Amino acid sequence: MEENRKKVLSCIQPSGMLTLGNYIGALKNWVAMQNEFDCTYAVADLHAITVRQEPAKFRQQIYSTAALLLALGIDPEKNTMFIQSHVAAHSELAWILSCYTQFGELSRMTQFKDKSAKHADNVNVGLFSYPVLMAADILLYQSDLVPVGADQKQHLEIARDIATRFNHVYGDVFTIPEPYIPKIGARVMSLQDPTKKMSKSDENINSWVAILDSKDDIIRKFKRAVTDSDNRICVSEDKPGVSNLIGIYSAVTGKSAEQVTAEFEGKGYGDFKIAVGEAVAEELKPIQERYQTFISDKKQLEDIYRQGDEKAFYAARKTLSKVKKKVGFVL
Ligand code: TRP
Repeated sequence: MEENRKKVLSCIQPSGMLTLGNYIGALKNWVAMQNEFDCTYAVADLHAITVRQEPAKFRQQIYSTAALLLALGIDPEKNTMFIQSHVAAHSELAWILSCYTQFGELSRMTQFKDKSAKHADNVNVGLFSYPVLMAADILLYQSDLVPVGADQKQHLEIARDIATRFNHVYGDVFTIPEPYIPKIGARVMSLQDPTKKMSKSDENINSWVAILDSKDDIIRKFKRAVTDSDNRICVSEDKPGVSNLIGIYSAVTGKSAEQVTAEFEGKGYGDFKIAVGEAVAEELKPIQERYQTFISDKKQLEDIYRQGDEKAFYAARKTLSKVKKKVGFVL
């Protein structure tokens, strides 16, 4: 591996079916970034238990997420791909960093406010200190870049603040991470309410497409996608539904919005929606096939993530030892 490559870190929660939004908004870029950067990718199972998970289902989701990352083309030789809870340094560093994080600053996190309103019966301390664990994920690997969507920007900001504060006291311990705004990857909106982000927690299953959905389901969902009444296929602020479909079509075909508009000149929404559905199904088909091979061979899957766990362990241990020494722990 080239030493001078920038280090990228990202994690994904195994909290259910991954969607087309996760794919276009994040995962497609994970695959692209591995050619340019030294990437570390984790399945963030520790973060996922901040909301209740059903154990048997949760275990399946962790396997499924790991298999899907491989199916997407994340190369476990080129990158470090592992399971967060397998590397104890994440929990350890999170504790230490929590002593360098103020109650007030965590209280201001918008995601905490939203989630604690949504899960009012389980406003646990983990939900509150979630950004500290995320800071530990990032800082353990001395990451230069963290690809983040709008919803995680504030969490990266606090990771930077914690790192800066720690370095100020103890010298240069942590690399200060920068946000990385990917070249491709529009924010994918709900197919039923294009003013909202596509989300697997939406009760209306027609509003989102899973990466593992069948071709028929994908096409049916796109056929039902909400558009508007004027039948013009172009990107416009007052046409959020059509703009979203163009964004999706562009992301999977590589065509620009202008090219898409030209391609469907004179055609109706009906044709366009089917074309988007077909293009999405086409893009996902080989991924789904590879997914089946990875998920049906648990032994191979386990070998792969164990190797990743080990690589992550060594990198993380280096930072953690340094932190412990700086703080004054006896080693
Ligand atoms: N909180 C992130 C999410 O829900 C997942 C995550 C955990 C993460 N640790 C991270 C993302 C570190 C980037 C860096 O999307």
